[in-house]
Amino acid sequence: MDQSRLVDHIETLSKMSDDDFPAVTRVLFTDKDVMARRYIISLMEEVGLDVQYDGMGSIVGTWSVQGSVQDSAVMTGSHCDAIPLAGAYDGTVGVLGGIEAVRVLKKAGFVPYHPIQVIMFTSEEPTRFGLSCISSRVMAGALNGTFLSSLRDADGVSFLQAASKAGYVLEGVVSEDDVVRNASSYAISSFVELHIEQGPELERSKTDIGVVTSIAAPSAFRVRFEGQGGHAGALLMPDRHDAALAAAELALEVERAVLDTGSVDIVGTTGSWSILPGAINSVPRVAELEIDIRDTQADRRDGVISRVKKAAESIAKRRGVDLNFQTLSVDSPATSSPLIVDTINAAATHFNLTASNMVSRAYHDSLFMAQVANMGMIFIPCKDGKSHRPDEYASPKDIAQGVKVLAYTLARLSSDGRPNVTQRDEL
Ligand code: GLV
Ligand code: MN
Ligand code: MN
Repeated sequence: MDQSRLVDHIETLSKMSDDDFPAVTRVLFTDKDVMARRYIISLMEEVGLDVQYDGMGSIVGTWSVQGSVQDSAVMTGSHCDAIPLAGAYDGTVGVLGGIEAVRVLKKAGFVPYHPIQVIMFTSEEPTRFGLSCISSRVMAGALNGTFLSSLRDADGVSFLQAASKAGYVLEGVVSEDDVVRNASSYAISSFVELHIEQGPELERSKTDIGVVTSIAAPSAFRVRFEGQGGHAGALLMPDRHDAALAAAELALEVERAVLDTGSVDIVGTTGSWSILPGAINSVPRVAELEIDIRDTQADRRDGVISRVKKAAESIAKRRGVDLNFQTLSVDSPATSSPLIVDTINAAATHFNLTASNMVSRAYHDSLFMAQVANMGMIFIPCKDGKSHRPDEYASPKDIAQGVKVLAYTLARLSSDGRPNVTQRDEL
């Protein structure tokens, strides 16, 4: 395969960003996201995929041939939206790598028995609507029209309004129920996602390929404290009800509750803060936090969540501020299909690559795809384990190896046991 072409595609995409290179900021349905979507469509068309988008605006390129079995596609892909000040590789490697895998398979003369599809999901990142993996949740039947219609961005814009402004609403779609109906009727037997590891394990152990066996259980919360603001000079300390201090206490409690479990497999992050009025000489009146808590064990995570909730209530009471504790998502962990785990390992052996089974601590659209298809994930190393930051990096060699393993895996799954290119040493 042509490593430099893929690297070129990644670089081109990384410049479709609201922040300067190497930082990538590409939030759902912004102009840069729309530009990226057009680019992905053009690349899919270039390799001969039949491209469509669904009710959620997910872009799907299909490769099927006459006589192929239409009712159970093998799907691959990931996302191209990027959190503020992210890097160039999170998600994009899976979308661009999926397109490249199709090119590799076509060149090798592969003929799909089950169709192969490459998808670019809508809004894996929760940046705009506070909810992660929005389109894969819909595909899994885990998000209905009523819930979708309740989502608002920071400016009060709904998903449907944002999709419509970006030009991603299908004809005849007038409500969120229509959106969901138009995005949940896939017939997929398997879903395989190629992704950078986003952690340091593969690089540290000098392993080429990570084979994901399960995905940790994520959860997300929005907490709003509302107190009373006032003049920073004139409002005396005994009279204050400072919302930001309540928030600060809660963030520390998140850390304490996680550490008290004594496990390194649970993590808690208070990554989003918004303070009103946000002036140096004004006592904070409102503080809104977003908290992310994840664990490989859902029950231990749930224990931490209840401790954090109780802490929020007692902090609010003691400080005399109002509390609104909103659960954005509490998701179950996912388990990979043993067949796909075996196939990815066989692919690594085929290409003389080292591989090791591992847990995904980050979430991915695969978390939801596992509810409707056999799921598997291929991880490649990323430099120093850095991700969700501008210096995120994966080497062209590691990306190319991931694509080859993906192509092999797709070929085997699409062939369903029939003879195929993977047995003829042509990949
Ligand atoms: C995905 O971006 C995650 O936060 O795990
Ligand atoms: Mn991400
Ligand atoms: Mn990702």
